[in-house]
Amino acid sequence: MKPPTVLIVDDEPLMRLSMVDALKGVGHEVRAAATGSEGLHAVHQETFDIVITDLRLPGPDGLTLLQASKHRSPRTEVIMITAHGSVETAVEAMKRGAYDYITKPFSMDELLLVVDRLSHVLALRHENLQLRGELEGHFSFEGILGKNPRMREVLEKIKLVSATDSTVLIVGESGTGKELVANAIHRNSPRRDRALIKVSCAALPETLLEAELFGHEKGAFTGAVRQRRGRFELADQGTLFLDEIGDISPIVQVKLLRVLQERTFERVGGNDTIGADVRLVCATQKDLKKEVQQGRFREDLYYRLNVVQVMLPPLRVRKEDILVIAESLLQSRATRMNKSLKGFSQPARELLLRYSYPGNVRELENMLERAVALGHPNEEIQPWDLCGLPSCPYLGGTPQESCGFCSESLTTKKDQHGNVDSLAMAREQFERQHIVSVLGRVRGSRTEASKILGLSRKALWEKCKRYGIVSGKNGQAGE
Ligand SMILES: Nc1ncnc2c1ncn2[C@@H]1O[C@H](COP(=O)(O)OP(=O)(O)OP(=O)(O)O)[C@@H](O)[C@H]1O
Ligand SMILES: [Mg+2]
Repeated sequence: MKPPTVLIVDDEPLMRLSMVDALKGVGHEVRAAATGSEGLHAVHQETFDIVITDLRLPGPDGLTLLQASKHRSPRTEVIMITAHGSVETAVEAMKRGAYDYITKPFSMDELLLVVDRLSHVLALRHENLQLRGELEGHFSFEGILGKNPRMREVLEKIKLVSATDSTVLIVGESGTGKELVANAIHRNSPRRDRALIKVSCAALPETLLEAELFGHEKGAFTGAVRQRRGRFELADQGTLFLDEIGDISPIVQVKLLRVLQERTFERVGGNDTIGADVRLVCATQKDLKKEVQQGRFREDLYYRLNVVQVMLPPLRVRKEDILVIAESLLQSRATRMNKSLKGFSQPARELLLRYSYPGNVRELENMLERAVALGHPNEEIQPWDLCGLPSCPYLGGTPQESCGFCSESLTTKKDQHGNVDSLAMAREQFERQHIVSVLGRVRGSRTEASKILGLSRKALWEKCKRYGIVSGKNGQAGE
């Protein structure tokens, strides 16, 4: 970043010149003004990073200039020059938003010091803004976070496809963010001001689904006491999100194919042909191609739906996203619960990275919800806050079936012959669990744990390394 631009406003010519020279000498771009009016004119013409102004000026004074400058550009910082002994006015200036003040008489070195300090602050601020921009611009889109290269491609694809009317098929395991993506596509499409209608195809039996999608006429079937418009009609000029599309029956598949081919349909039990101006976004956990091969899904429909495919990888294959998402969720949940937490301890981070998340991001979300509720205020989240069980193996309990998180990370390792039941493996497993348990009891202090275990600190360190037990900077026990 180049040195900040500066405006100097002072009516004493010698003082003004000295300041201009001093600041130009260290690389700043400087402009000067001799009166309050000139100063006001300058801040309206140009945006400066820093304004240095005398408090007492002919015409509008320094406080007026401060106000005008803040009004014009809040990020411009103002340094006020005050006369010796006028502390009150200096305080007043600070109250009104001046960044700092400098008292006359001062040397040019003093001035440079104040400006230099402020320049550092401005550089940091600039860097933060850039980082935040990067985070939002490249790693996140509509709340979908992703740092993993495949996810970044997905985000790019979503941005591109949003602008079109193409049918999109979103494929991914449960909890990978399919609905989140569907929302993002709609919100960024030209149809954003129209409805986004969602239908979960798996939730309804065949006949009900048909009526739900296409509507029905009065008397079309028992219980159809009045005419009802279907989701296709409700989504007119908007987007229709068909979730679990892999679960629709052959009859509904045929009807859907027709809408896609002809852009028209009839209500159940009706003869009127209705036009459908609908953008279709579908999602499935199933491998539709396999469903086609096995004769459960129409091939022609598959090709109509699979115009653009967005494939969401499971969380376990995009490890770099785990902490990005976890940190962001932790922050948002903590704010919601009005709780201040200090992020994750190192063992908790390692556990988060090691786990396989069969429920993907939704599971991570639930885990963090629990951790924020259980975590101690102003402390770091620990492994036992993540699993939430009093019998957490990290606190010395035995892995519970219900605690997939810890039991998975503690699963028995196999020896070089693939044998899990040898005495040596059993001994190792016991030793490992015992160490973890003792470390948990002493809240991770290796010094205390080594005393209890009768080991030297070095021997304990070696065993921890061998068994993959880590201690954070603050000495907490963990995987
Ligand atoms: N990349 C991501 N960044 C941030 N949050 C995410 C991300 N992916 C998913 N989520 C969050 O995870 C939760 C589950 O996402 P969503 O409901 O979209 O998944 P899904 O694939 O539709 O799941 P299912 O197949 O079970 O219906 C939501 O709360 C969503 O906000
Ligand atoms: Mg879903």
